[in-house]
Amino acid sequence: MDAAIAAVLAEYEKRGAEEHKLQLKGTMDEWLERRDEFLIAVGPATGQLLNILAKSVKARTILELGTSYGYSTVWLAEAARATGGKLITLDKAAYKQEYARTMLAKAGLTAHVDFRLGDARETIASLAGPFDFVLVDLWKDLYVECLDLFYPKLSPGAFIAADNMLLPENYREHALKYRKHVRSKPKIDSVLLPVGSGVELSRYNDSSIS
Ligand SMILES: C[S@@+](CC[C@H](N)C(=O)[O-])C[C@H]1O[C@@H](n2cnc3c(N)ncnc32)[C@H](O)[C@@H]1O
Repeated sequence: MDAAIAAVLAEYEKRGAEEHKLQLKGTMDEWLERRDEFLIAVGPATGQLLNILAKSVKARTILELGTSYGYSTVWLAEAARATGGKLITLDKAAYKQEYARTMLAKAGLTAHVDFRLGDARETIASLAGPFDFVLVDLWKDLYVECLDLFYPKLSPGAFIAADNMLLPENYREHALKYRKHVRSKPKIDSVLLPVGSGVELSRYNDSSIS
C-alpha cells in the first residue's frame, strides 16, 4: 500500500472507531434508523482479504455492490490499479458516493473507479459484464436478488465475497438465506470465512478452468 492510500485508510479507520463507540451507546433500532450516517465498512481484515483475492485472480472487472463512503472501494480500487483493471462501484446515495469520490481522489485512485449512482438492481441489469470479482455489501435483504442478476455475468473463476454473514446478528436470517442460495447455484464452490463480520467466499468454476 502506498503512503497516500495508507493515510486515507487510516482516516476511515479513525472515523469508524469513533462511530463504533457511538453505536455501542444506542440500541439496535436507534442504530438502524441512523445507519446511513455511518461508514459501516467491511473493516481492515476484510479489506485486505478482498485486495489479496482480487489481485490473485488478476481481476480485470471488479463489481462492488455498496460503495457507501468508500472504504472497501479504496481496497478494491488499489487491486484494480495493480491488475490494470477497473472497479465499478454501485450505491443509491449520492452524498455517500460524493464523499467516496473525494477520498478516492486523495488516495490517487480516481482513474480506476467507475461510480454508478442508482438502485443496484437496475445498474447490474444494465451492465454487460463479465465480472471477475464481486463484493456484495449492500442492504442484506437484497443479496439474493442481486446474486441472481449478476450470476449469469460472472467470468470463469470469478470470486464473489458477501459481507456480514456473521455480524450484526440481526442480519443472520438474510445471511443464511444468501448462503443457501449461493451454494445452490450451478458451478459454485463456497465457504464461510470468520473474517471481519463474516464473509461467504464463493468461486464460479466454469469448465474452462481447474
Ligand atoms: C454496508 S454499506 C456498504 C459499505 C462499504 N462496502 C464499505 O465497506 O465501506 C451498504 C450500502 O449499500 C447501499 N445500498 C443499499 N441498498 C441499495 C440499492 N438498492 N442500490 C444501491 N445501493 C444500495 C447503501 O446506501 C449503503 O451505502
